[in-house]
Amino acid sequence: TASNTIRHLISIADLTTPEFVSLVNRAQHHKKLIKAGVKPETWPLQGELVALLFSKRSTRTRISSEGAAAYFGGQPMFLGKDDIQLGVNESFYDTTKVISSMTSCIFARVNSHSEIQQLCEHSSVPIINSLCDKYHPLQAICDLLSIKENFKELKGLKLAWIGDSNNVINDLAIAAMKFGINVSIATPNGIEIEQHVIDAANATTAETGATLELTHDPKEAAKGANILVTDTFVSMGQEAETQKKLKQFEGFQINSDLVALADKDYKFMHCLPRHKEEVSDDVFYSDHSIVFPEAENRLYAAIATIEAFVVNKGQFL
Ligand code: CP
Ligand code: NVA
Repeated sequence: TASNTIRHLISIADLTTPEFVSLVNRAQHHKKLIKAGVKPETWPLQGELVALLFSKRSTRTRISSEGAAAYFGGQPMFLGKDDIQLGVNESFYDTTKVISSMTSCIFARVNSHSEIQQLCEHSSVPIINSLCDKYHPLQAICDLLSIKENFKELKGLKLAWIGDSNNVINDLAIAAMKFGINVSIATPNGIEIEQHVIDAANATTAETGATLELTHDPKEAAKGANILVTDTFVSMGQEAETQKKLKQFEGFQINSDLVALADKDYKFMHCLPRHKEEVSDDVFYSDHSIVFPEAENRLYAAIATIEAFVVNKGQFL
């Protein structure tokens, strides 16, 4: 079927390094144009719908993908979990067939990765994974753009992740390593990085030489780090485990004690939304923090993504 030839954005690990680098470069290119007030010359998605099939809340992903659709002349259509028949009255398969028959692509925010796989299998248009339990590729494109803007040379930098093992870091680790950045991940005891991430990291090490270090000691990860990153300790859908997870993450807050171990010119990043337990106010709102430019960069990441996967149908510039 046609869907076999469609390029979907599922995870960063599915992209070659040149493809990923191209997405980051194109995001930077579009940012420059937009900042210079240059309007797009053509609207390749004019008259088309861009569907956002979101079963979870979103601020940044929703705004950036709707903004990116508008940039190309497309009409974004937000389909939240209470808006459509899915789940209550209609199957995932039927919903996928119907939405993809009337739209140019589907940005999908789902619970489990298997839902992204089902969408890719049955959709007649590109699927853009807009967060599942395993991956968050749009965030990783944005984050590498944000790092690129803040450091002259990326090769050999140390990125420290102090937090959970799931979607954001699974893509960010591979993304950073594709740019030659060494990654050190501190998770609490009992929370491990999944084997598929380690396998993708090993393949990337063979290609770029960048390393992945795993530890349960936040200090070990923070030591000499150029970039410190974290995320919520309680991801969407884990609300029932809040007390247990907060206990597990005791000692994992990024605060003045921890950043004292980092490089003196360190940058702090966070995909947002943010809570005080994972990062103290004095770090989050410090001059080292690039969280708000990082959030804005989601727009340019979404633009580069629509350009490559929808407008150019899987051709990377
Ligand atoms: N960073 C991110 O994906 O944020 P939202 O959940 O607000 O989309
Ligand atoms: N890990 C978080 C990321 C939110 C953007 C979650 O899944 O809720």
